[in-house]
Parts: sequence; structure tokens; C-alpha cells
Amino acid sequence: MRAKERTFVAIKPDGVQRELVGEIIKRFETKGYKITALKMLQVTDEQAKAHYAEHEGKPFYPRLIRYIQSGPVVAMVVEGYNAVAGVRHLMGSTDPDKAEVGTIRADFAEVMEYNVVHGSDSVESAEREIKIYFNENEIYAQRKCMEELVVEYLDAD
Ligand code: RTP
Ligand code: MG
Repeated sequence: MRAKERTFVAIKPDGVQRELVGEIIKRFETKGYKITALKMLQVTDEQAKAHYAEHEGKPFYPRLIRYIQSGPVVAMVVEGYNAVAGVRHLMGSTDPDKAEVGTIRADFAEVMEYNVVHGSDSVESAEREIKIYFNENEIYAQRKCMEELVVEYLDAD
């Protein structure tokens, strides 16, 4: 049984700088997922450390922290059936050389450390990461509101 899940996605500074924001978001939207929160922000020291705590001490950690703070990121919450694994499937392997053609990383990135996009690796990570970047009141529920407005408009007079 596939559950509806929410996951945290960030278009990393290279993706924003290279003007891939629309292209990347489009892939999630055309898949059928809903973007329920979205903002551009400069990642703070505190957010970077919290986000990448699991990688502290690894050789690439200092570069990772510098990378994620090297320019604005576009952070979002993406919701849909099996969205955690599904988003990672659309993103492709961490290393763009190993990612399947057609995935975001294969199509838009050249090297492993600068791989354009982030997606949570589990439901637990997603909930932890969403909290680092969003308040719950910045996340919008499924958008049924337009349907209701259209029906009201069509029923008027
Ligand atoms: P992400 O967290 O960004 O969605 O990527 P991921 O799960 O596929 O990979 P993860 O192991 O969590 O690594 C986080 C990011 O660190 C950089 N990295 N560099 N040089 C290296 O061996 C190495 N390994 C990872 C990448 O930017 C990766 O996305
Ligand atoms: Mg990861």
C-alpha cells in the first residue's frame, strides 16, 4: 500500500545559479506531486549544520557546508504517494555519472559534490529536514480551494 508522504527538496545553489529552478520543479509537478511549500533562502550556518549533521567529520563535509551556503537555494515541501522514494528516483544517484539518463542529476549535473538537488532519504529525515527550513504554517494543504471557487462561480446567477 502506497502512503501519501511529504518530503523535503532543495534546489541547491548551482541549480538556482544555472536557472534550472523551473525545469526541476516541473519534473515534480508533471509527475503528479504537489508543491505544498516553497521559498528561496540563504542557508544559515545553523541550518547547514543541522541539515548535514550525518556527514560531519567526512572529508567532503567542509565543502558540502560551503556549497550549500554559496548562494540562495530554493526549498520546498513535495507531497504525493511514495514521494520520498519517488523524488529520489526522479533525482537519480548522488553521482551524476551513475545516475540514469532522464533523471535530474544525470541530465543537469557533472560531478558528485555539485549535484543540483537535494531530497530527503526517508520519511523520518523528511520530517526532520522540513522543520529546519519551514514553520508548519508555511505549508499548504492539498489545493481543493480552486475547485470550490469554480463550482461557486458556475452556480452563481
Ligand atoms: P542529498 O542528501 O543531497 O539529497 O544527496 P544524497 O542523499 O544522494 O547523498 P548524501 O550521501 O546524503 O550526500 C549529501 C551530499 O554531499 C555531497 N557528497 N559528496 N565527495 C563525496 O564522496 C560526496 N558524497 C556526498 C553531495 O552533494 C551529496 O548530494
Ligand atoms: Mg542525503
